[in-house]
Amino acid sequence: MRVGVFDSGVGGLTVVKSLLEHKLFEEIIYYGDTARVPYGIKDKNTITRYSLEALEFFKNFDIDLLITACNTVSAYSLDELKEAAPFDVVGVVEPGILALQNTIKDKNSNILIIGTNATIKSKAYENPLSTSKYVNISACATSLFVPIVEEGLYDGPVLQSAMQHYFKDLKHPDAIILGCTHFPLIEDSIFNYFKGNTQLIHSGEAIVEYLEHHYNFSKKFEKTELKLFASENPEALRRVAKKWLKH
Ligand code: DGL
Repeated sequence: MRVGVFDSGVGGLTVVKSLLEHKLFEEIIYYGDTARVPYGIKDKNTITRYSLEALEFFKNFDIDLLITACNTVSAYSLDELKEAAPFDVVGVVEPGILALQNTIKDKNSNILIIGTNATIKSKAYENPLSTSKYVNISACATSLFVPIVEEGLYDGPVLQSAMQHYFKDLKHPDAIILGCTHFPLIEDSIFNYFKGNTQLIHSGEAIVEYLEHHYNFSKKFEKTELKLFASENPEALRRVAKKWLKH
């Protein structure tokens, strides 16, 4: 099976990492729209237009499935992509919700959702979780984390002060939904900020669980061919991939 993975920038590589670890695909085509990142401060029309343009790119490849490894795109443009695509399209929000429900059974637990401005504004996580009776949900747009990750500042004073800025007044969360695929690159820092005493829900692991449930993967691929593309500066994307994926 061949899969396309799409994100606004480097963040979707965190999903690729999970796909590689689980050996699900023989080929992964990754496209990061690095020329136009961040998407998370844009409106639905723009996010959908960019996403449909990315879809045109993927039509050049013989893929069976497209993963929108971007919570912002998954929250706003999944229906439009599904309608226009000649292959299946799967987003990361629904898998993230299912992963949280599977991990946190106590509906009184403190759940913190972090994501881009757009994802938080969409309430794509919040509404289904409230409907399924989680009563202590907080949501916080942590958009500054995206450029911090794009800059490669995975730890240090800039990230620490951004975390302090966003998290200082929050109740201690029992679980955090990392509702942006850039955030697993700083998950150790987030985990340590909360003294290691919180569960992190990660789009990459969530989607693997979801795919294994919905598709029939009859074999594992010991070798996966990974092709990386970007709308600007693909070298920078490859450098992050090399460091992060060791692939
Ligand atoms: N990685 C993206 C997400 O999961 C968004 C980053 C951005 O472009 O703002 O939402």
